[in-house]
Amino acid sequence: MACHGHWKSWKDLCPFNMETKAGDPGAFAHFDLNRVPSPAFVVDEVAVRRNLEILADVKRRSGAKVLLALKAFSMWSLAPLIDEFLDGCCASGLWEARLAKEHYRGPISTYSPAYKADDLAELCQISEHITFNNPEQIERWKIKYNQNDIFDTCELGLRINPEIALGETEKYDPSQLHSRLGFPISQMRSEHFQHLSGIHCHNLCEQGFDALERTWAKIEPIIAPHYNDLKWINLGGGHHITRDDYDREALVDFLKHLKAKSRCEIYLEPGEAVALDAGILVGEILDVFNNGMPVGITDISATCHMPDVIEAPYRPAMLGEQPEGTAIRLGGPSCLAGDIIGDYILPDEPHVGQRIAFLDQAHYSMVKTNTFNGVPLPSIWLWNSESDALKCVKTFDWTAFQDRLS
Ligand SMILES: Cc1ncc(COP(=O)(O)O)c(C=O)c1O
Repeated sequence: MACHGHWKSWKDLCPFNMETKAGDPGAFAHFDLNRVPSPAFVVDEVAVRRNLEILADVKRRSGAKVLLALKAFSMWSLAPLIDEFLDGCCASGLWEARLAKEHYRGPISTYSPAYKADDLAELCQISEHITFNNPEQIERWKIKYNQNDIFDTCELGLRINPEIALGETEKYDPSQLHSRLGFPISQMRSEHFQHLSGIHCHNLCEQGFDALERTWAKIEPIIAPHYNDLKWINLGGGHHITRDDYDREALVDFLKHLKAKSRCEIYLEPGEAVALDAGILVGEILDVFNNGMPVGITDISATCHMPDVIEAPYRPAMLGEQPEGTAIRLGGPSCLAGDIIGDYILPDEPHVGQRIAFLDQAHYSMVKTNTFNGVPLPSIWLWNSESDALKCVKTFDWTAFQDRLS
């Protein structure tokens, strides 16, 4: 590929990356990037509230319960806002469950592919639902805690694997071949419903209602004969409910009918949908040079601040990007050769000191940051796009790096 001059579209530059499904700048289109130090996450609480209102409307009309998946969005300074709209949190293990207990009001539903004994004892005290990955785990823990009443205060669930791969990327598809996540539905027998209060199924990633419908069609024949044995059905996360093109009417209808026919409480546990298009990551260009094409080093690192960019991989949308202009490859300050954020087309000549921002970074970026190479962590800011109030929620100094090591 020719590597200089002007490009028509970033897709000419990197045609193989996933595209973000969100990436609407919303009110950030008018946010002055110089108002915060760099790098910084800025979350618009108005956008989070808008997402929560949509989820609360689905709840109200369908009778389903909606939990926040902390793995996606653990910005606990917004817990009071989340508590206004959602029913509780889902946790991936002890630390997330503790965070939920400490900061959020509602009940906690915990699922982990496997548990350690000490963690499980505490988890049973603070979780309303504990979901196991296979029936053998339940048997094993029941035997181990035979004399004990640790399961008396929480309800047991089993995560099933529906064995229907519908994801765009195998890495994010729980139904991938030889998956570690959930008990294969093809192995499910009547006796496996013993001891269970609930069934858990998480199979989606950034998907619309059709994927939920197809997943449910696959598992319903196995679950339906046992509706009477169950108290709840948890349909996991990955539902992009707050995206404009999500068929929410169909979802409400589906949830309402499922609740009526199963007489179970129905749970959804979205993460991304809570914080969709609600935050940006602001950075600065530290250097620009030419190596066959303009290359820019930024104080945002893909590997430290947006690891999904490399893991997925995907190309985060940039605030204010134009279809035509000057192409530049942007990457972080770390030593990793692959610490590349992506190729972008900037309206003007890129220059040192220029502020940039990547869209839709409130979820799965903030929770995944790390200090590889001693790269500083972005500070966290809360903005109200209606009142224009801007508040620093958290800054990190170099001790954040020091304290993780010894
Ligand atoms: C068990 C479980 N629940 C909920 C979620 C949240 O998914 P999302 O953030 O895509 O809505 C995930 C994501 O991986 C998950 O594994």
